[in-house]
Amino acid sequence: MSKRVAILISGGGSNMVALANSMVGDHPARPVLVISNDPNAGGLAKARDLGIETAVVDHREYPNDRNAFEEVLHATLEAYTPDIVCLAGFMRILTEGFTAKYEGRMLNIHPSLLPKYKGLHTHARALEAGDLEHGCSVHEVTAALDDGPVLGQARIAVEKGDTPERLAARLLPLEHALYPAVLRRYATMDRTPVLIS
Ligand code: GRF
Repeated sequence: MSKRVAILISGGGSNMVALANSMVGDHPARPVLVISNDPNAGGLAKARDLGIETAVVDHREYPNDRNAFEEVLHATLEAYTPDIVCLAGFMRILTEGFTAKYEGRMLNIHPSLLPKYKGLHTHARALEAGDLEHGCSVHEVTAALDDGPVLGQARIAVEKGDTPERLAARLLPLEHALYPAVLRRYATMDRTPVLIS
C-alpha cells in the first residue's frame, strides 16, 4: 500500500514538483494533496497540471489567529488521510500544537547546512560569514524551527562573486535531488542519511 503524501507550499513549488515527479513506478509513496497558504501560489497550477488535488487555506483569512488557521489546515489535510506531510517552500511557522500532530511523519527542506543558519536569509548569512561551502538540509519537523533530526544534506562550494540570488539558484537543483531521495527512504522507514556533494 503506497504511503499517502501531502505537500505544503507557499510559492512556485519547484520542490513540490520534484517530489511529485519522483513518486512513480515502484516508489513506495504517492502525492495525494498539495495545499498552499497563498491562493496565488504558482505551485497550485503546477500541481493541478500534474493531476494532484489542491487546496488553499489562506492564512490572511485568520489574522492574528494562528490556531484557527492551523485548525482549518489540519482538517483540510486529514480529509486526505496523509501518512507523510512534506513542507516544500512553505513559509508559515507552525505551532507545537500542529507539529505534534505529525511528529515523526513531517519533513521540511531548509536551504542551509543545518544546524547552521536556521530561519530566513540563509544564503546571505552564509556569504556574510565567508563560508566556503553552503547547502540544503531535509529534516524531520519538530516544535523548534528548523531543528529536527537531519535526514539528508547536499553541499555546494561558494563561488567568488556569488550573490544570495545566484547561490540560491545554484542550490535549487540540489534541493530537487535531495528531497526526493530522502522521501523515498523515509517512506520505507529507512533513516539512512542522504549525503550529496
Ligand atoms: C527553496 O529554496 C526552499 O529551500 C525554501 O523555499 C525555496 C523555494 O522553494 N524552503 P520552492 O521552489 O517553492 O519549492
